[in-house]
Amino acid sequence: MRLDYLTIFPEFFDVLGISLLGKAVDNGIVDIHAHDLRTWTHDRHRTVDDTPCGGGAGMVMKPDPWGEAFDDLLGADPDPSVHVVIPTPSGTPFRQDDAAQLSHADRIVFCCGRYEGIDHRVIDYASEHWSVHELSLGDYVLNGGEVAALAMTEAIVRLVPGVLGNPESLSEESYSQDQEGLLEYPVYTRPASWRGWDVPEVLMSGHHGHIAQWRREQSRELTRRRRPDLLTDE
Ligand code: ADE
Repeated sequence: MRLDYLTIFPEFFDVLGISLLGKAVDNGIVDIHAHDLRTWTHDRHRTVDDTPCGGGAGMVMKPDPWGEAFDDLLGADPDPSVHVVIPTPSGTPFRQDDAAQLSHADRIVFCCGRYEGIDHRVIDYASEHWSVHELSLGDYVLNGGEVAALAMTEAIVRLVPGVLGNPESLSEESYSQDQEGLLEYPVYTRPASWRGWDVPEVLMSGHHGHIAQWRREQSRELTRRRRPDLLTDE
């Protein structure tokens, strides 16, 4: 899988060299390229923004550097197998299903906007050539797309076969379909007693049926309290 990031702050993506993602890079499972969008400017100030047409506060990212970056990275031929991800608070919510779908992609280009956003013609142009996803990390506004792109990258790449040491943990975590899309139950490790708090007895019982039932009940209760929107059969 090749991942490209178009950004005015390529340093944000240095962190992809550490932890499990860094290992995936070292093992050749993912190939990461962060590009400074200002590479594709031609003026002395390397300008990437301009005032919004129609007026209003803030600045908008000019289309020209994006167009030239696309030409250099992807060429001019349409290719729906290339996924272009545009993190934006106006996007559809980024969910585990999106991460799972994108984990099958061979090529993803993240376009990280700053300021008030990217000139919309860039999105129209990209949509005519590649599979475009405008995705939001959540109902809050970040300063730019970089942090959102990092979070999405981690969610996507950990699903690529060979990246996680223990792939079984994927099926037991929150949002996994094996968990019926519920939140994950609470987990414990040794010691059995810590600062007056004990591990729930059932987990020390060795009775797999009771443990599975307890975990399912905990998942359902937690989901009912925190995320009732995820409960489909009630
Ligand atoms: N850029 C700024 N805010 C964002 C958000 N909530 N999700 C994705 N990209 C963003």
